[in-house]
Amino acid sequence: MQDRLLIGQCLFYDADPRYAGPDGLRPSTRGAVLIRDGKIAATGEADDLRRAHPQADVTDHGDHLILPGFVDAHAHYPQTAIIASWGKRLIDWLNTYTFPEETRFNDTAYAAEIAATYFDLILANGTTTVASYATIHPASVDAYFTEAQRRGLRALAGKTCMDRNAPDGLRDTAESAYDDSKALLEKWHGQGRLSYVITPRFSPTSTPGQLSALGALWAEHPDCLMQTHLSEQVDEVAWVRDLYPEARDYLDTYEAHGLLGPNGLYGHAIYLEPREIDRLAEVGAALVHCPTSNTFIGSGLFDMGLADRMRVGLATDTGGGSSFSMLRTMAAAYEIGQLRGNALHPSELIWRATAGSAEALHLGDRIGSLKLGIEADLCVLDLASTPAIAQRAARATDIWEAVFPTIMMGDDRAIAQVYVAGDPL
Ligand code: GUN
Ligand code: ZN
Repeated sequence: MQDRLLIGQCLFYDADPRYAGPDGLRPSTRGAVLIRDGKIAATGEADDLRRAHPQADVTDHGDHLILPGFVDAHAHYPQTAIIASWGKRLIDWLNTYTFPEETRFNDTAYAAEIAATYFDLILANGTTTVASYATIHPASVDAYFTEAQRRGLRALAGKTCMDRNAPDGLRDTAESAYDDSKALLEKWHGQGRLSYVITPRFSPTSTPGQLSALGALWAEHPDCLMQTHLSEQVDEVAWVRDLYPEARDYLDTYEAHGLLGPNGLYGHAIYLEPREIDRLAEVGAALVHCPTSNTFIGSGLFDMGLADRMRVGLATDTGGGSSFSMLRTMAAAYEIGQLRGNALHPSELIWRATAGSAEALHLGDRIGSLKLGIEADLCVLDLASTPAIAQRAARATDIWEAVFPTIMMGDDRAIAQVYVAGDPL
C-alpha cells in the first residue's frame, strides 16, 4: 500500500505534560506524519518528510491540527438513545431510564442498530477507540464487536453482569455471567483490534457469588482488562456499605472477590477513602474520570491530583455523560479542575483524552499518540470551526491559546477528518 503523508499543525508526543510541562506535547506549525501499513512510520517537519518520502501520497491539512484519535476509556453504548434524560440522580436514573432501555437489547436487531448509530456518533466526534459496557445480553457484545470490526476500529467491551437489584429480563446469575463472559472472551479477545473486558456493572448489582465468579474468570485470563464502577455517588457508597457489611470500604467489595489488579479500570472514583487510594496505587490500577457524567448526574468533583499516584483515563460515560464528544469531556474536566483549584493545562487535557486514556487501557504502546510505530488512528481538528471559536483563536499567540477555545467550545463541527488505521473516513 502506498505511503500517506499528512501535513498540518502537529503535537508530537514526547512526554506526559503533567510531568514534562506543556512541551511534552511538542508543537510544530508545519509538521507531518508519515503513515505506512496503518501505522505511524515517521514524524517531523513537513519539508523534511516530503523530501525524504517523495513517493508518498500527500494530504495537506493546512492550519488544522493533527492529533491522535480520541480514546474514550468508559462508555455505555446501549445508553446511546437515552442520553440527556432529565432530572434523576444515579440510582433513580438507572431504574428510570437505563435499565428499561438496556432491557431492549435482548433484541439482536435493535442492538445492531444502536451499535451502528453509536460508532457513527463517536467517529463524527473524533473518537477512534472506546471501552464500552454492553448489556447483560451476549448478543449486545456481538453487535458491538461486529460493528467495530466492520469499521476496522480498535475497540474494547464486555458483557455487563448483574444478578441482583436489576429488573426482570436484566439479570443473569453467577454461573451464567461466568459462562457467557468466558464464551465471549474466547470468541472476541485478541480478534484483530478487539479486546474483551470482564465487566461486573458495580457491587450493588452483583451478589458476592457473582463477583467471585468473575474474579475467578479474571484470574484465568489475567491479560484481560476488568472494568467496573467505584464510589460515584454518596448514596451509592452508603448502599454498598449496607449490602456488604463485612467490607472495609467500597473497593474492598472488589478486592475480596479477586477484582482488584493492575488491569482493573475503576470508573468515577470520587469518594475514595485513604485506604482505597493507597491500595489502587499499590496494585497499579487505573481510574477513569467521567466529568460530564459527574456534573450531569450530580455526582461530585473528581480529584485529578490522583494522577500523581496512578494512571487516570478520561471518558464520556455515555449516556450518564451528556455528550459523545471528548472535546466536551475535556471542557468538563477543565471546569471540574477549576472548581477544585486545579486548572488543567490544554496540553494535559489533550494528553489525557488520548495517551492518558490509552495508558489507562494498557494500550499506550499501540494508540493515543503521534509517535513512531503507533497505529494511525488520527483526528484532524479545525481550530476555527465556528465564528465564536474563530474570533478567539485569531488572537492566539501560541498553539495552546489557539487550541483552548476549541477544547472549551468545540464539538463535532471541529472534527475536520478522521483516519482509522491510516485510511480517511
Ligand atoms: N453505575 C452503575 N451503572 C452505571 C451506569 O450505567 N452509569 C453510571 N454513570 N454509573 C453507573
Ligand atoms: Zn459507567
